[in-house]
Amino acid sequence: MITALYPGTFDPPTNGHLDIVQRAARLFDRVVVAVAANPGKRPAFSLEERVALSERVVDGLDNVEVRSFDTLLVDFTRECDAQVVLRGLRAVSDFEFEFQLAGMNRRLAPRVETLFLPTSEQFSYISSSLVREIAKLGGDVSEFVHPLVVEALAGRLQRPTGSIT
Ligand code: COA
Repeated sequence: MITALYPGTFDPPTNGHLDIVQRAARLFDRVVVAVAANPGKRPAFSLEERVALSERVVDGLDNVEVRSFDTLLVDFTRECDAQVVLRGLRAVSDFEFEFQLAGMNRRLAPRVETLFLPTSEQFSYISSSLVREIAKLGGDVSEFVHPLVVEALAGRLQRPTGSIT
């Protein structure tokens, strides 16, 4: 039984994240979407909100669960009995950071393997911060995120058009 942990900040989860989870769910027996507290990133959504949104986004995928963590990733893999850390690669520019992260995690816990899935082409330019920025400025993000996330973003970030405060 192979469990893959898919960690991220998911602020908010996007269709790019969902693409990776759907494909991982076909490859692994169990997938844990691990929502990192990551206070250093000063997330727009609270940890509880990011977990709730992620749960709705992956709803219907039977072998996928969503959990939050505020520890070292490698410690959380142990807690989840995960053998694999899964990361999506969108572009070559992702590679340097991902390679460093994988190397450090391997050094900390040699039993855990990091695997990469290339993001499907149509999602290669999506990022959570771009989605937040577009939503904040009143743009349409429905192509990039689940309808519930669209709603949550509208409630959280939108300001009236033309306002500069
Ligand atoms: N589709 C769309 N967007 C994607 C994506 C995909 N397939 N894959 C990544 N992204 C985007 C995210 O939206 C995010 O965008 P943003 O920077 O605009 O918000 C960006 O890529 C990277 O974010 P994410 O994948 O969420 O990773 P992260 O860098 O926020 O978090 C952790 C990385 C959680 C894995 C890392 O911080 C961690 O392990 N933390 C735990 C503490 C720890 O162990 N630290 C030591 C590590 S050696």
